[in-house]
Amino acid sequence: MTVQQVRGTTPSTAAGPATAGPAPGPSLLDPISLRGVTARNRVWLSPMCMYACGDRDGRVGDFHLVHYGAVALGGAGLLVTEATAVSPRGRVTPYDAGLWSDDQVAPWRRVTDFVHGAGARIVSQLAHAGRKGGKYANLPGDAVGGGTIPLAEGGWPLLGASGAAFGRFSAPRRATDADLRQVVADFADAARRAEAAGFDGVELHAAHGYLLHELLSPLTNDRDDAWGGDRAGRERLLLETVDAVRAALPDDKVLLVRLSAADGADGGATHEDTADLARRLADRGVDLVDCSSGGLLAGVEYVPSPGYQVPGAAAVRAAGVPAGAVGLISDPHHAEAVVSAGHADVVLLGRELLRDPHWARRAAVVLDRPGAVAPPPRYHRAWRDAQSRPFGT
Ligand SMILES: Cc1cc2nc3c(=O)[nH]c(=O)nc-3n(C[C@H](O)[C@H](O)[C@H](O)COP(=O)(O)O)c2cc1C
Repeated sequence: MTVQQVRGTTPSTAAGPATAGPAPGPSLLDPISLRGVTARNRVWLSPMCMYACGDRDGRVGDFHLVHYGAVALGGAGLLVTEATAVSPRGRVTPYDAGLWSDDQVAPWRRVTDFVHGAGARIVSQLAHAGRKGGKYANLPGDAVGGGTIPLAEGGWPLLGASGAAFGRFSAPRRATDADLRQVVADFADAARRAEAAGFDGVELHAAHGYLLHELLSPLTNDRDDAWGGDRAGRERLLLETVDAVRAALPDDKVLLVRLSAADGADGGATHEDTADLARRLADRGVDLVDCSSGGLLAGVEYVPSPGYQVPGAAAVRAAGVPAGAVGLISDPHHAEAVVSAGHADVVLLGRELLRDPHWARRAAVVLDRPGAVAPPPRYHRAWRDAQSRPFGT
């Protein structure tokens, strides 16, 4: 199989000039409403595993309260949590957060209450890592490239669409019909717990080669049963999960799906395929598609540059489906251009919000709308004087 390079695009080609086109679209700093959920602006936290459940029980703790709390105080509109496992074997690492058990609800409730008190919205990213699970955490000193944790060291058997391994990971067991039905039920149960924990909705992680993505792609799904064979078969796990999760959530709560909008390999998903799938998802009650890329196959090379995934979001949005853009977006003018040029409805920031949880407020200063992201009352003295100052001065 030929593996293509996924090349980035420059901010100007990704977003188009801010002044191009007819009427400018909304601003990054404008609110957005999806169903009954209104986010105060379009600066959203991208999901990021924190590997911080030290007791390996999937229960979030003080770190998560402070981590998500800081981003909420910092002015972001909506936070998508780290990948939160729907079953213990669906974890990426032993230290992942979970919503597979009722005792994980109250610790999350502490987080959602604080985030709401700070004026932000929060959505739970529900995930099953499939054949990419059971690995070491990506922390300094961990055996990141070491593949799967051996069973004797606390790893677990993996589940996959086929029996093929991902790179140096252990080979998974090929999922049975009963396994996949159980996965759908696990997502629905976790969504019910997310609702009990006070989340504003759920994002399904169907990107980066995790189980829902692995089933979607002909490059990784070689099944000839009802969970593969043709496009409808390969989409079945995702679409049944969407239906089950939508039914588990109240009508006013949001359902997002993260897709890898392009796989970067011959025969894998293209932006056109993703736009088609996004329409089917929207027809089933998905409110926004969060457009990432890659992660399906080991050995696909990426050359990311600012805004490199924006074209995927633009394709989804052109199909009439609300879209989020993510990936090396850290300049406020770039983020504003992505939204106002109509390439995405929201921008998700990952690492930049780890570097600066107050990025949304700083962006408002840079974009000359300091009042658009009001500081928390207890921080007002810090921002009174900073409002005329750009970044870094
Ligand atoms: C530490 C870290 C953890 C991540 N964990 C997740 C995750 O749990 N779920 C997910 O969909 N993407 C995850 N990602 C990808 C990010 O959400 C984001 O798409 C990527 O970092 C590109 O955005 P950025 O350039 O703004 O960081 C992770 C990225 C980082 C850096």
